[in-house]
Order: sequence, then structure tokens, then C-alpha cells
Amino acid sequence: MKKNEVASSPVPDHVPPELVRDFSLFTSPGMPPTVNGDPHAAVACVHAGPPIFYAPHNTRDGRGTWVITRARDQRRVLQDTETFSSHRSIFASALGETWPMIPLELDPPAHGVFRSLLNPLFSPQRVTALEPAVRERAIALIDRIAASGTSCDVMKDFAFPFAVNIFLRFLGLSDHRLDIFVDWGKDLLHGEPVKRSAAAQKIVSFIDDLAALRRKVPVGDFMTFVVQAKVEGRPLTDKEVRGIGVLVFVAGLDTVAAAIGFDLSYLARNPKDQEWLRSKPERIGLAAEELLRAFSTVQMLRVATKDIDFEGAPIRKGDYISCATMIANRDPAEFACPDTVDLAREENSHSAFANGPHRCLGSHLARREIVIGLEEWLARIPAFRIKEGTAPITHGGHVFGIENLILDWC
Ligand code: HEM
Repeated sequence: MKKNEVASSPVPDHVPPELVRDFSLFTSPGMPPTVNGDPHAAVACVHAGPPIFYAPHNTRDGRGTWVITRARDQRRVLQDTETFSSHRSIFASALGETWPMIPLELDPPAHGVFRSLLNPLFSPQRVTALEPAVRERAIALIDRIAASGTSCDVMKDFAFPFAVNIFLRFLGLSDHRLDIFVDWGKDLLHGEPVKRSAAAQKIVSFIDDLAALRRKVPVGDFMTFVVQAKVEGRPLTDKEVRGIGVLVFVAGLDTVAAAIGFDLSYLARNPKDQEWLRSKPERIGLAAEELLRAFSTVQMLRVATKDIDFEGAPIRKGDYISCATMIANRDPAEFACPDTVDLAREENSHSAFANGPHRCLGSHLARREIVIGLEEWLARIPAFRIKEGTAPITHGGHVFGIENLILDWC
């Protein structure tokens, strides 16, 4: 099977044919990988249809999912953890195993136990303490780009090294293996099955080795905290330490880079907005929220724990349910002119970081990285555009992203 090709599952008997749609976040026409395309606009088309439908191959391994289109209904699903479970072992399944990434793939009450343990590590205060390092890193990378000419590949030269450096720093790790980590992340999220499981194995070995090292020689970093932590009066098991380490590793790898890529791609194509934002840096925080809304990147999956009729659809125990943030955030019932990017939009309770108990733990960090990245880019790089003769290639999947973004300026 070639890259990006997926096996399709047969439609289960309980799914009425009129609720089946030829739609996939991976393969639909107009969907990624597209050259110069607009995957978010392609996704937004579903709002012309019913609130829920069945997509026969809407996961990386070609499984069918129900797709919830309305933001309000997605919130209902994400809040109802008894009916819609997060227990899926998505990462471990690449290795033929079943342990959960923690806390993402745990349901309450176990989820709350680990979430309370980790919350302080992701607090706004901790992020504020990291800010000078985040800014320093952004400036160093952009200054190097500016000194080396009038063109660059934003993803390779800025977005990935910036985001991955910060999250390694957050974990307390040096970045001498940064390029290797970026490659592991790409193979894991977008590679064909063999590359995917090889990358998963490398990440697991890296996390297990790191945990063993921190047990022997504690150094006061993230992993030292995890191996020394206690929940309900007992130390964490090796599998729990691994589940936490792997999740934090994967969650920070390409989400922030993708957001920065989509933001700069939009600004490159919209010179008026670019100029407006450059002249009003104090509006970058608000604008970043609008860009997070309009170019949301994450699809969440849940598994039904029982049979339930949902907005007329017969969901059966074991069915997968997709709550895609890129769909919810284009819902016309929640956002006026949802397909228009309005950098001054004030009413903007988007769900780019999810809703419910699994709301993104890294959102404070991610927001600061995006805002600081945009501030320093706009302050240092003059009017930029997509370099003539090049075209950004976007990719779909559980996390949307951009493979290359070649910009130039005078
Ligand atoms: C723009 C960047 C990011 C976006 C759009 C994003 C989005 C999300 C979403 C939608 C979820 C919910 C997933 C689900 O319920 O299935 C989530 C969960 C999570 N994210 Fe993020 N994320 C970003 C960056 C980060 C970063 C940088 C980190 C860590 C350093 C992080 C750590 C986590 C963790 C640990 C969870 C699991 C929370 C839980 O289950 O309680 N995220 N994120």
C-alpha cells in the first residue's frame, strides 16, 4: 500500500445507507495532501449536510467513524465520557500493544487522578517562566534566516526547530537530537505503516531509557518529576511513566509547528492583513485566536461504550466517533461568516484546544509560542509572500499540517 493510501472498512450493517458520506480527513477530494489547496475550506463543506454522518475510512488505518459536524454536538460528546470513551491506545496499537497514553486515553475517574498530577507542570506560571527562552529562540532562528537571504522554507528553518526546541526545553532535554525527533514525529504521524511502527518503537525506547536514567540520576526535570511522582499513595508503574512520557513527546511535536505554518501561509497570501498585524503588534494575541479557529488542526476520536441514538444516527457500542476541531470551528451556528478570517474577531470561543475533561494541557504553552513566534517574525521579516513557482503542500490526517512553506521577501 502506498503512502496516504488507506484500506477502507466495510460499512457496518447498522449504518443506514443515507447517512454514509464519501468523506475522509485523509483522502477526500479537495482534502490533503493538496498543493496550494485549502483543506480547511474542503472540510467546512460538511456544514451544508446533516449534523452527523458516517465516513467509511476516516482514520489512519482506514476505519470508519461517525462524524459530528455541529460544535454544540461535539461538546456534548466530549463532555459525556461515560458514553464516549477516550480509551483507544492509538499510539500503542502501532506496536500491536494496548497501553494508554496518559491522561489522553484514560476516562474519568482515572483521568482526573493523572490530570491533577500533571496540571501544575503546565500552569500559566510555569509557561511565563519559559517565555524569555521562547523569545530568545524565536529571535535567534529568525535572525539567522534574515541574515542568510530573502527566502526560506518556514517549516524547516523556523516552525519545526522552534516548536521542538521549546518542547524539549520544557521536558528538560537538550536539542542536539532535534532533527531526529522531528523525523520520528513525521514518520509516526504521516508515514506508511512500517515507518510508523519503527518510529513508535524508537519513541518508546527513548522514553523508557530516559525514565531509567532519571530514576538513577534525578535532575529535577519533567521526567524526574514523573518517575518520582505518586498517585493514590503509590509510585507510578513503568507503563504509566511511559504513557505520560510518550504523550507529552507526541503532543508537542508538530501541533505548534503546524499552527505557525498555517498562520504564516495565510499572512503570506493576504498582504493587507499581514501589514495590519505588523503595524498593530498588540493585536497579535487576538489574531492568533482567530487563526487557531480558522486553521484548527486536530481531530479527536472517541469510542461508543454503549448503543445510543444521536441526532437520529444509530451509534452502536464500539463505533468510532470523530469530533474534528477543523469542522466545529467552521460551524455557522457558532461563528458569523465562519469561512472568513477576521483577525479582529472578538467573539471567538473556538475549540482548537478541545472541550471537556481532555482540554489541551499544553494550551498555555502553545498559545505563547504561537504569539511570540508571530511577533518576532513580523518584527524582523519585511512584507513576505509565497515564493513564485512554489506551492505549500498541506497534509491531512488526525493532525493537519504543512510540509513545506517557501516564502520570499525583498
Ligand atoms: C497549537 C498546538 C496544540 C493544539 C491545537 C492542541 C490540541 C489538543 C487537543 C484538541 C487535545 C484534545 C485531544 C482529545 O481529547 O482527544 C489536546 C490534548 C492534549 N494536549 Fe494539546 N495541542 C497543542 C499543543 C500541545 C502542546 C505543546 C502540548 C505539550 C507540551 C500539549 C499537550 C497535550 C496533552 C498532555 C493533552 C491531553 C490532555 C488530557 O487528556 O487531559 N498540546 N491537545
